[in-house]
Amino acid sequence: MAVLRCPTCGLQAPADAVRFRCECGDLLEVSHGFRTRIEPDELRARRVSSAPLDRSGVWRFRELIDHGLPAEHVVTLGEGNTPLLLSAALDAFTGIGELRVKHEGWNPTGSFKDRGMTVAMSRAVARGARRVACASTGNTAASLSAYAARAGLEAFVLVPEGATAESKLAQAAAHGARVVRVRGNFDDAMRLVEDAQEGKDLVLLNSINPFRIEGQKSIVYEILEELDWSPPDWIVFPAGNLGNTSAFGKALAELRELGLVTRLPRLAAVQAEGASPFARAFAGKFAELVPDPDPQTVASAIRIGNPVSYARAVRSLRVTDGVAIAVSDEDILQAKRAVDGAGLGAEPASCAAIAGARELRRRGVIGDGERVACVLTGHLLKDTGAPVGTPLVVEATPEALRQALG
Ligand code: F0G
Repeated sequence: MAVLRCPTCGLQAPADAVRFRCECGDLLEVSHGFRTRIEPDELRARRVSSAPLDRSGVWRFRELIDHGLPAEHVVTLGEGNTPLLLSAALDAFTGIGELRVKHEGWNPTGSFKDRGMTVAMSRAVARGARRVACASTGNTAASLSAYAARAGLEAFVLVPEGATAESKLAQAAAHGARVVRVRGNFDDAMRLVEDAQEGKDLVLLNSINPFRIEGQKSIVYEILEELDWSPPDWIVFPAGNLGNTSAFGKALAELRELGLVTRLPRLAAVQAEGASPFARAFAGKFAELVPDPDPQTVASAIRIGNPVSYARAVRSLRVTDGVAIAVSDEDILQAKRAVDGAGLGAEPASCAAIAGARELRRRGVIGDGERVACVLTGHLLKDTGAPVGTPLVVEATPEALRQALG
């Protein structure tokens, strides 16, 4: 049975605790005390099963994620099961042979957040919650709103005013969430919602909620499963609040403990230069985290200056011999043109991963012939604010059209 545990001081709390921050300041994480070893054959069988839990790319790994939760509490929208795609165009762009692209934009609300949300929302339902909340740069808000609507819970989402893609807010509003635009940045909204939780009977569904991290581990499971549990050399992904960085490292450390893998891929967390406290801390050998008071980047999803999961993410990079780098907005937009032009399409933040993979290859950190999986975190339609070229408008006549087609 899962319990919550502080990795710094060892304090334990029951799995249905509402406070996720330990008195020592670190965040609690789910500790499984694994007893059953799940076999790859059993996992394969679930891929063709029609049982609702097996249809989810999160819950078919339930023994590794949240074994103790009764099935009747599970709130699922059939998340996960996203494709791992090859692209000759992106091989050419990054200089990496057979680059594999895990497209998380294929999730029900269009981002990887659904994988963590299904688990954290199910846990909130199991403990009888009525109101759920988060601070968000947009995708968590959209995901929380959909899963809250599915579960019949009241939802509050706090977003930085003027710095969140409208399409993400449209999703949240459509699902009936109360959208609160905060006059400040994401980090201000995060601080506010964590304080507001106190005494308000609100369950927080940001990635400080340890069950979000558990669900997001399934991205790694699916990548490995598709490669017959023979790990790639690298997993490259965009990093903001550092939930994924934390989840991926935890997933890999646990898989090694269970004997499902013996060698771990190296993690590469990619930030935008204008919002890169983690990359800077990595460059300084993690001596300290210096937050960015005014983070700025075209990739609004990762415009975050003070990541809450910093300590967890440091552990993830240490356990996987990982790296963190920053790429410029110009590099991100160039990568976006390549991703969109390859027919995959993704929002700007996602494309930071491709820009990062290219840069790591260029520097020789990713070696010749190494196997690389990149995670695209959100769908192209999530953020259409990025430049899309000049529109072509014609009169409604055949001549005008002929002329326009050239
Ligand atoms: N990519 C996208 C598309 C995101 O929306 C986010 C985070 C990230 C990458 C970074 O992931 O926080 O785990 O390091 N979005 C959050 C949100 C902050 O509120 O939607 P991370």
